[in-house]
Amino acid sequence: MKLFVFIGLSAVFCNAAEWQDRRFPDDFLFGAATAAYQIEGGWNADDKGENIWDRLTHTNPGFIADRSNGDIAADTYTNYRTDVEMMRQLGLDAYRFSVSWSRILPDGLSNKVSSAGLAFYNNYIDEMVKYNITPMVTLYHWDLPQKIQDLGGFMNPLFHEWFEDYARIVFENFGDRVKHWITFNEPREICYEGYGSDTKAPVLNRTDIGTYYCAKNLVIAHAKAYYAYVNDFKPKQGGVCGITISVNWFGPLDDTADDLLAAKIKRQVEWGLYAEPIFSENGGFPTELSEIVAKKSAEQGYKKSRIPEFTEEERKLVQGSSDFFGVNHYSATLVSATKHKQLYPVPSLLDDAGVGIYRPPEWPESASSWLAMAPKSMYNALTHLKNKYNNPTIYITENGWSETPHDGNYIDDGRVRYFRAALNDALDSLEAGVDLRGYMAWSLMDNFEWNQGYLERLGIYEVNFESESRERRPRKSAFIYKQIIKTRVIDPNYEPESYHMSIDEGH
Ligand SMILES: *[C@@H]1O[C@H](CO)[C@@H](O)[C@H](O)[C@H]1NC(C)=O
Repeated sequence: MKLFVFIGLSAVFCNAAEWQDRRFPDDFLFGAATAAYQIEGGWNADDKGENIWDRLTHTNPGFIADRSNGDIAADTYTNYRTDVEMMRQLGLDAYRFSVSWSRILPDGLSNKVSSAGLAFYNNYIDEMVKYNITPMVTLYHWDLPQKIQDLGGFMNPLFHEWFEDYARIVFENFGDRVKHWITFNEPREICYEGYGSDTKAPVLNRTDIGTYYCAKNLVIAHAKAYYAYVNDFKPKQGGVCGITISVNWFGPLDDTADDLLAAKIKRQVEWGLYAEPIFSENGGFPTELSEIVAKKSAEQGYKKSRIPEFTEEERKLVQGSSDFFGVNHYSATLVSATKHKQLYPVPSLLDDAGVGIYRPPEWPESASSWLAMAPKSMYNALTHLKNKYNNPTIYITENGWSETPHDGNYIDDGRVRYFRAALNDALDSLEAGVDLRGYMAWSLMDNFEWNQGYLERLGIYEVNFESESRERRPRKSAFIYKQIIKTRVIDPNYEPESYHMSIDEGH
């Protein structure tokens, strides 16, 4: 008994003093992330084609909270050298950005390749590589060529052919320097928000089948691009290819069998639909959810289930088609089988799930309705993925905090607190054996935050969207992050000596 007490006390003592000893590995990739439509601007520069966000914001400006759009955004199309200078100031190991499909292929298809589009990304990548910054490239971050949307976009079962053609052109042109590829960013937001409800382009709002058919076509397109890379590019180029899924944590509200099951169903609805076909041992859609949808579809008079099946060939193609699991993680939600239920459209994904959700009021809230700071949420999500999917290699490809754009918010202590907690979770996950290789903070700079326009800011650099040059300025969180990258430890008391940002020449 005495020994037990002694161990307990020493554990407490160690915890209080051990931040210096909790180090990120030297080869851990610290980076920051952005997406093409949110920062690039140049919406019709040279021969760039129209995409679905150009179309949505131009034809329905009221859809965006401040009636803004990404026509200019942070004007990275002009300012890309400044972006790379910011990366050098921070001492980033890596930078995650996305390629705009319609900037490369103005008509969406492979017959016409834009040399201006290729030149822009070649210059951007060259500038990073020159300073030893590892580019991590997302092929698709929500900006579908409008001409592909006109053919049904992700609802068209031929989608995978068009995506694979595009992916091959990107691999061919940039794969000599890019060794980290992500096919799709956040299938849930593409499929559920864009096709199965009404919150993102193309606002298809087919609540009955939109999410499910999009999910199937998306994971098949992912697998086709993955094998195009593995078979025809990887042998020479030697990189890795994966997918990024938004994995927020969903735990039970009460510790009951019913709530545990409700949380499981909710995880399947939110991200299992996309993760299970790729990362699970058997492939295909999550079993419990498929059974619920089949049953409800029959009751609702459908001749077959609203959730499609995979043929044996499709199932095998998709299963195992990823070198790593890219995780965008922000928050958590508690799930109940009986309480906090809301009315959802019938039929719909959320009606199919039929669970209630709850966020405790004590979790600090950001400027974004979907983003609260939940205790240990990243640790819970990552250790869950480790156990569920046989310890996959994981990169955190997004994680960050949102504030309002009012003046004088350079001292973004809320964001600092959030980053420190998240990175402590990352260290705990490493200690628990999660194969976590890197962390990309969202975002390098303020950007067009989709439906919320410029009203929600997630940058560690502020962007002045009123100024012609879209001037950038580091916030306190940039200095804190820089110190963490440099020292590989999280000093809970570190305060910047000054707010002058210089380039880390040691990098
Ligand atoms: C989307 O569909 C739901 C249910 O059918 C409906 O209540 C909602 O108004 C629709 N949204 C839009 C933007 O049409």
